[in-house]
Amino acid sequence: MNNINKTIKGVSLLTDINLALESGHIYGFVGDNGSGKTVLFKVLLGLMHKTSGTILVDGREQKDLMQDVGFIIERPEYIPYYSAKKNLEIIAAYRKVADDQRIRTVLEMFGLDPSDKKAVGKYSLGMKQKLALSMAFLEDPKVLILDEPLSALDADSVQEARKRILEEKKRGKLVLIASHYPEDIQSLCDEVYWMKNGHVLPSKENK
Ligand SMILES: Nc1ncnc2c1ncn2[C@@H]1O[C@H](COP(=O)(O)OP(=O)(O)O)[C@@H](O)[C@H]1O
Ligand SMILES: [Mg+2]
Repeated sequence: MNNINKTIKGVSLLTDINLALESGHIYGFVGDNGSGKTVLFKVLLGLMHKTSGTILVDGREQKDLMQDVGFIIERPEYIPYYSAKKNLEIIAAYRKVADDQRIRTVLEMFGLDPSDKKAVGKYSLGMKQKLALSMAFLEDPKVLILDEPLSALDADSVQEARKRILEEKKRGKLVLIASHYPEDIQSLCDEVYWMKNGHVLPSKENK
C-alpha cells in the first residue's frame, strides 16, 4: 500500500497508509471503534474507492485485491432461509473452485454440521460468524482479510478459529485481521499495526 488516502465529504478517513505485507504472515490491525480498520479493509477489497494511493501486488498495481481473496467484512451476506451448506453451494457455483467435499470440510473446520438443515437466518450470532469464516475460507484463497473474525464466538470456537488461521499462515497465505480487542489477536499476529483516526501509527508508537 502506497500512500493510501480516503476522504469522504472533506473528512479524512484514511491518511497516508504505507505498508508492505508479505505472504506467510499474519498482520493485525487494532484500534478503537471508528479508527479506520474497516474502511482500510474495504478499500483494499475494492468495496470502497480510495481517494488516492496505489495498491501493488507482487510489484504490479492492482485496483483492489478482490481476486483470490476470502474476506469477512461486517455482517456476513447469506440467504436466511437456506441452510449453511446450501449457502456455500450457491457461492461455490460462481467460480466452481470449491467442490462438495470442500464445502463440507470448511463447515466442519469451524464447527458447523454440513447436514444441519436449519435455515441460517435462525442461527445464533456465533453460528453466523462460523458461517462467515467458512465462506471466507471456502475457495482456499491466497489472501484472507478478516474484520473482527472472532467476535461472538465462544471460547472453544475462538481457539479453533485461531488454529485454522495459523494453519493458513503456515500454508503461505497472507492474513489481515482487524480487532478492537488487541489481546484477541496479538498472540496470533507476526506484526500488529495500531490505528488511530485513520492513521497507522508509526511502529515506535505501536504497543
Ligand atoms: N461510508 C462512509 N461514509 C462516511 N464516513 C464513514 C463511512 N464509513 C465509515 N465512515 C467513518 O470512518 C471512520 C472509521 O470507520 P471504521 O473503519 O468502520 O472504524 P473501525 O476501526 O471501527 O472499523 C468512522 O468515523 C466512520 O464513521
Ligand atoms: Mg470495523
